[in-house]
Amino acid sequence: VRTVAVMTSGGDAPGMNAGVRAVVRRALDCGLEVYGIHNGYEGLVSGGDAIRPLGWNDVGGILPRGGTFLGTARSERFRTVEGRRKAVENLCRRGVQALVVIGGDGSLMGARVLAEEWVTHCAELRRQASEDVCARMPDRLHVVGLPGSIDNDLYGTDMSIGADTALNHIVHAIDDLTSTAASHQRTFIVETMGRHCGYLALMGALGGGASWVLVPEEELDLRWHQKMSRAIERARAIGRPHQMVVVAEGARHPDGLPIRTEELKKILAERLGIDVRVTVLGHVQRGGPPSAFDRILATRLGVAAVDLLLSASEEPLCHMLGLQKNRVTATPLSEVVEKSRAVGSHIDQGNYREAQKLRGESFAR
Ligand code: F6P
Repeated sequence: VRTVAVMTSGGDAPGMNAGVRAVVRRALDCGLEVYGIHNGYEGLVSGGDAIRPLGWNDVGGILPRGGTFLGTARSERFRTVEGRRKAVENLCRRGVQALVVIGGDGSLMGARVLAEEWVTHCAELRRQASEDVCARMPDRLHVVGLPGSIDNDLYGTDMSIGADTALNHIVHAIDDLTSTAASHQRTFIVETMGRHCGYLALMGALGGGASWVLVPEEELDLRWHQKMSRAIERARAIGRPHQMVVVAEGARHPDGLPIRTEELKKILAERLGIDVRVTVLGHVQRGGPPSAFDRILATRLGVAAVDLLLSASEEPLCHMLGLQKNRVTATPLSEVVEKSRAVGSHIDQGNYREAQKLRGESFAR
């Protein structure tokens, strides 16, 4: 491998910049040529100025910055075969032999499809492209994905880049809300992000000392609101008049309909006659500088991505790098995509059981 391109895709996550920086600097150190793709797959399809060479100084000063300096997007054009053919053409023009994609499951799935279709698109392009482009056209595309998502919903890694920073935002927000809740003897409903995954809600509840948590992975029975109300009532009775209830945005009723924060407010206010307020944390969870953990995770994975590419053989790589038990591991993207979608696979069962044991009155003591 002599030429590598790097991009960020899907929702931004704190630490993505650290990942790009590590890929660029490790690659340059190893004598490779590096391109940065701006605005995710949208930029890959557009080509032109959206795909630019990156030098050492281009990634200077970005380590502590949140978001992604390369920009990101959710691209409709890349979902079409025509769009992906254009993407292949844009990579071929620059002689790119390997692509590093930092993003969530949708983005990694996109990378996998691109790698799979590579040979077909190249064969077609060979019929139309100039001799110059044909001469630069690699036989295969190596793809390495890095898990970049605050949701922490990817199989093949204990943590994804951005999740730790988001979790810290949540715990700090709960701490901050606790002082106003205590002053007014109020109960707060705090909604976290996480899409279909309850990781942020569950860990936020544990770290913030909440009295109840609702996550998508738990199949609720029809009496769930009674149980929740009883837990809050008991916690209040043993001497703490202010309570926190954390709800994941993906939490569902037994019939599959989403649980709304206003609905929780109504249940608790009407059943217990208490003062309830709702705080939806929203995009603040994705913002700001990455935590030390996310910077280091992204840096380790970025360096490992280049090293893996340098060891690549004839067989095209199509893997995601993750951190498992503090070691960098490579998992085939097909496995990552398939297993990440399995319901309930996202939350470490040990942590989940721990939270179950701790909640209710034991949380509030
Ligand atoms: O996947 C990251 C995430 O922040 C989810 O937690 C959330 O559901 C979604 O993205 C929000 O997407 P958008 O920024 O497009 O509103």
